[in-house]
Amino acid sequence: MILVTGGAGFIGSNFVLDWLAQCDEPVVNLDKLTYAGNLENLASLQGDARHLFVQGDLGDRALVDRLLAENRPRAVLHFAAESHVDRSIHGPEDFIQTNIVGTFRLLEAVRAHWSALPADEKAAFRFLHVSTDEVYGTLSQEAPAFAETHPYEPNSPYSASKAASDHLVRAWHHTYGLPVLTTNCSNNYGPYHFPEKLIPLMIVNALAGKPLPVYGDGLQVRDWLYVQDHCSAIRRVLEAGRLGETYNVGGWNEKPNIEIVHTVCALLDELRPKADGSSYKAQITHVQDRPGHDRRYAIDARKIERELGWKPAETFDTGIRKTVQWYLAHPEWVQHVQSGSYRDWVSRQYGADA
Ligand code: NAD
Ligand code: TYD
Repeated sequence: MILVTGGAGFIGSNFVLDWLAQCDEPVVNLDKLTYAGNLENLASLQGDARHLFVQGDLGDRALVDRLLAENRPRAVLHFAAESHVDRSIHGPEDFIQTNIVGTFRLLEAVRAHWSALPADEKAAFRFLHVSTDEVYGTLSQEAPAFAETHPYEPNSPYSASKAASDHLVRAWHHTYGLPVLTTNCSNNYGPYHFPEKLIPLMIVNALAGKPLPVYGDGLQVRDWLYVQDHCSAIRRVLEAGRLGETYNVGGWNEKPNIEIVHTVCALLDELRPKADGSSYKAQITHVQDRPGHDRRYAIDARKIERELGWKPAETFDTGIRKTVQWYLAHPEWVQHVQSGSYRDWVSRQYGADA
């Protein structure tokens, strides 16, 4: 079995659903259920014995020790993090606590467990750390995309905390021999994305008739990857990645934010036209820029393609259409997130004692 941290979040829940759709290897899912954790994402696994959900903090050493001892996972996949740049600007403390201190505690628990394993299990064990391209900082318009050798130059409290966690993971490999793998991925999008991030926020605000807030001139560039492609990259790195290596994961889809917003509006105009015939684009509002806003991210994903044969299956056009269709088909999920009632899901589903 495998142990996943943060498996009720956006990428983690997509990963758990994909994993169990493709194999029967059980998953222990440790998640604190912060505002970003949503068990409704995993509702289809209710009653499925292959999925063991545990609500808890990855920094709780006694809990993690117990989960490792009882379940003896062959791998730990570490998704849990505070992940939103804007929140990290308003309040960095939780980012330091979960992303840095939490990762440190998790590494120590995993190291103690791994050290005591019999030789064959020890050799097969993996710790996969899920990280971001934001650790590399920002690129000028003409600079080549981030390769794995690019210096770390994080600019936000979020990216600095992720960079610190990457360094800890690297050090636990070099110093203690812990069998680690790290992935640094570009911006994901797709189902179950919390509507504080650009793409889902634009979809849900557009449908609600609210303004679509574009920071500054909207010409900041991100590389976008459909979330299931990120999940397939993680599975591939777990299966065949070289120990101690990092793999950059991206979609070869560099786009300015304003183009993303126009694409979302055009899809909604087609799939859910407004009664008065006007375009959702009329709702676009330029608002004050994010402080320290990185201008451009771009991923050079040739290493993972060359060494592991991984390539994204979706283009941006196919992925964004699927995403908009998913949000249109799941108004209840959106409504529960917006009302906050998704946080009551455990008691609604399992009764007040759960
Ligand atoms: P998310 O914010 O949607 O989910 C994070 C999950 O972690 C939530 O379920 C939350 O409850 C859980 N969590 C937070 N603190 C915890 C703690 N102390 N203990 C246990 N669980 C805790 O994030 P996401 O977008 O799914 O990102 C997952 C990982 O992928 C993160 O490490 C992030 O840095 C990385 N990443 C994200 C993107 C992206 O575009 N979203 C891109 C590259 C890398
Ligand atoms: P976001 O989804 O927060 O991801 P990240 O900051 O990790 O890349 O933002 C993506 C881009 O969209 C980023 O350049 C900031 C911009 N943005 C807006 O213009 N308006 C918004 O309301 C949000 C949330 C983001």
